[in-house]
Amino acid sequence: HSEISRVKNLNKLQIGKHEVESWYFSPYPAEYAYLPMLYICEFCFLFYPSLFQLERHRTKCTLLHPPGNEIYRHDNISFFEIDGRRQRTWCRNLCLVSKCFLDHKTLYYDVDPFMYYCMTVKDEYGQHLIGYFSKEKESAENYNVACILTLPQHQRKGYGKLLIEFSYELSKREGKLGSPEKPLSDLGLLSYRAYWQEKIVELLLKSDEEEISMDEIAQRTSITHGDIMHTCQALQMIKYYKGQHIIHLTDGVLTQYEKAQKKAKQRIDSEYLKWKPPV
Ligand code: COA
Ligand code: NA
Repeated sequence: HSEISRVKNLNKLQIGKHEVESWYFSPYPAEYAYLPMLYICEFCFLFYPSLFQLERHRTKCTLLHPPGNEIYRHDNISFFEIDGRRQRTWCRNLCLVSKCFLDHKTLYYDVDPFMYYCMTVKDEYGQHLIGYFSKEKESAENYNVACILTLPQHQRKGYGKLLIEFSYELSKREGKLGSPEKPLSDLGLLSYRAYWQEKIVELLLKSDEEEISMDEIAQRTSITHGDIMHTCQALQMIKYYKGQHIIHLTDGVLTQYEKAQKKAKQRIDSEYLKWKPPV
């Protein structure tokens, strides 16, 4: 894990019309590091040391969205499914950018074992990448997400939640429970906790009875028993009743939920997911 301890080697990145500060080390070739600014093509993620070179590239680059299959489109939001083995260069370039904002993942160069689920927002010019998650094609631990990232210029707008929601929609289609790969970063954990809490509370509110079993929540959300348990324990929502763990709503949690609902948010609508698990 030698790269983990390596210090940040990039200063700023320009991605599309956004300038962002790099957070962590990323293994760009040495001649591209330590520049005042690294210029990144927002569609193919190739990188250039000067604006001049990027602009020359932009006259030739024909991509207006990520490669791969568009498996979801609703309003201006789309998801593209990209096989790391088939789009090796594109995925490696994406991983180089992502590594600037991830400090603990080391699997950014071996892209073959992963699928990449890339979320875009459409405007009159193209479908711009907002964030993505990677997912192992075969996960012995049933992880449904390896890495997850919202590009920093788009963070704290609810896109992370959409990415997470989408990852669970895929698990539902697979008929499996899923959980993100550990360890999660601090930001990852905050986002997942918020997501798990919201989904659990939503189910409790929808169900007629006041109580609902852990198993039922797991089956309906694809969230694992462990993640449900931890979430509910942290919120003091667990009761042990007749040999079963029962989850019940508390006033505090309900108030928190209602507050969160007041922010207008986009949701993933599974009706628009055109996808079968890859065989
Ligand atoms: N401080 C406090 N809470 C935060 C937070 C922050 N900086 N970022 C996210 N959260 C929590 C909040 O509860 C938030 O809901 P709210 O904004 O309604 O309060 C919830 O998570 C979801 O936020 P959202 O806007 O949907 O997430 P995001 O688009 O910012 O993306 C990550 C979340 C984790 C994908 C993003 O922070 C990221 O890319 N981080 C760098 C990469 C990383 O660490 N990935 C995870 C490990 S693999
Ligand atoms: Na490329």
